Amino acid sequence: MNLEHIDISGKPPIEEIEKQYYYMAILKKWVEKKSKELGRPLTCCTVTFGCQMNARDSEKIVGIFEKIGYQMVEDEHADFVIFNTCTVRENANLKVYGRLGYLKKLKEQNPHMMIALCGCMMQEDAVVEKIRQSYRFVDIIFGTHNIFKLAELIHTRLESKSMIIDIWKDAVEIVEDLPSERKYSFKAGVNIMFGCNNFCTYCIVPYVRGRERSRNPKDIIREIEALTADGVVEIMLLGQNVNSYGKNLEVPMTFAQLLEEIEKVDGLERIRFMTPHPKDLSDELIEVMSKSKKICNHLHLPVQSGSSRILKMMNRHYTKEQYLELVDKIKEKVPNISLTTDIIVGFPGETEEDFLETMDVVKKVRYDSAYTFIYSKRTGTPAAQMEEQVGEDVIKNRFDRLLKEIQSISAELVGRDAGTIQKVLVEEVNSQNHALMTGRLSNNILVHFEGNKDLIGRIAEVKLTECKGFYYMGKLVEGSDSTI
Ligand code: 5AD
Ligand code: SF4
Repeated sequence: MNLEHIDISGKPPIEEIEKQYYYMAILKKWVEKKSKELGRPLTCCTVTFGCQMNARDSEKIVGIFEKIGYQMVEDEHADFVIFNTCTVRENANLKVYGRLGYLKKLKEQNPHMMIALCGCMMQEDAVVEKIRQSYRFVDIIFGTHNIFKLAELIHTRLESKSMIIDIWKDAVEIVEDLPSERKYSFKAGVNIMFGCNNFCTYCIVPYVRGRERSRNPKDIIREIEALTADGVVEIMLLGQNVNSYGKNLEVPMTFAQLLEEIEKVDGLERIRFMTPHPKDLSDELIEVMSKSKKICNHLHLPVQSGSSRILKMMNRHYTKEQYLELVDKIKEKVPNISLTTDIIVGFPGETEEDFLETMDVVKKVRYDSAYTFIYSKRTGTPAAQMEEQVGEDVIKNRFDRLLKEIQSISAELVGRDAGTIQKVLVEEVNSQNHALMTGRLSNNILVHFEGNKDLIGRIAEVKLTECKGFYYMGKLVEGSDSTI
């Protein structure tokens, strides 16, 4: 939508998306005026903490800032700094407080500076209270449900001259068609749903991201078609539990059915998704994955723990045996699939026997890689009330043993495609050796090979000549320098 054509002389429109473009148009004028006064463009720096969902939200934030005329910069010496926060683990919160201290000094040097905080951490009352009292220099605080309102919030701040706090307990509507700025020209994240209903007992996400809401399939397909028309060849479908996609739609639809529809989009080469919950990963989905030409040969399937006793305490709704059966079924139907996972060490009450069950799952499944987390007590979650929190030394010891096991299996697995020719999505010039290009295999493993930067964003055929631990060196197959 072109902001020049928007009438800003009257009242704001009622329709939400139109209202937000109206505020963007007003702010654009303000930014132009300020830039003239200062004799330079206004700059903005967005700092993103946490997961892919936050990264996608930040693209929407950047989209709004660019639309109103800010120049995006990496450095926090900017006219506007916005932190998109995470609260999944305690140290994520501490990091934000630490960096706010630094921002305070910057703001003292630059009186024009504005500071906004948003994201999951802001959905916690205690956090907002602390910022309100101890970090008075913050200009705007908003949460996960009203990112679309950013332009309106900046406008309110400019009018009111005091801290603006706007946190919603849950989402009201999904606002489509906001501006968005992509980090890469050839791959993009696409939200398919928001929120989570699972309430795993350690996890804060359902409290800060609200209940599950699926986007309309038509809106998703329309977005993917627009992306592919713009050169995107790989998409990552995002949702806290993609398996429950579509349950709350007027015309219910399964995630597998959505994938089948997305598969039909011309120009799209690769489909990734995260995160599926093992408790409701359906046979239908496995079937669709096995038949698909576009779904990547990779599944991130968080196990969290290998002990059925701990899994029950975590409210995960599956046992060790059910998880292993599921993995066997997937491996049988989708041969050569690369499996990755998330594991938490030191959940309250975890004994050595429980931990050994986790080690056993790791040995049986043989993950390509795994994200391992030390349990972090999140106030407000049921697990935080559980007695028998495990001691630090015990956790550290288990964590190290687990990491060693994962790394040794991963090292054995990663080279399994050496000598074969594979499709690689070429992503960038290698940062260390500019004669090399870097890309990713369908199973997400990196490949470096000699090539030209015209290949960026294309899928090329590369012979994997040598495995070097966690990546491959390769050789471009002649004549494969176009999207195939
Ligand atoms: N402590 C440690 N790890 C956690 N995760 C979620 N909550 C916690 C917590 N309180 C991990 C889970 C999840 C991943 C995104 O973060 O493994 O899958
Ligand atoms: Fe958290 Fe569990 Fe929901 Fe994942 S499924 S976001 S771990 S509550």
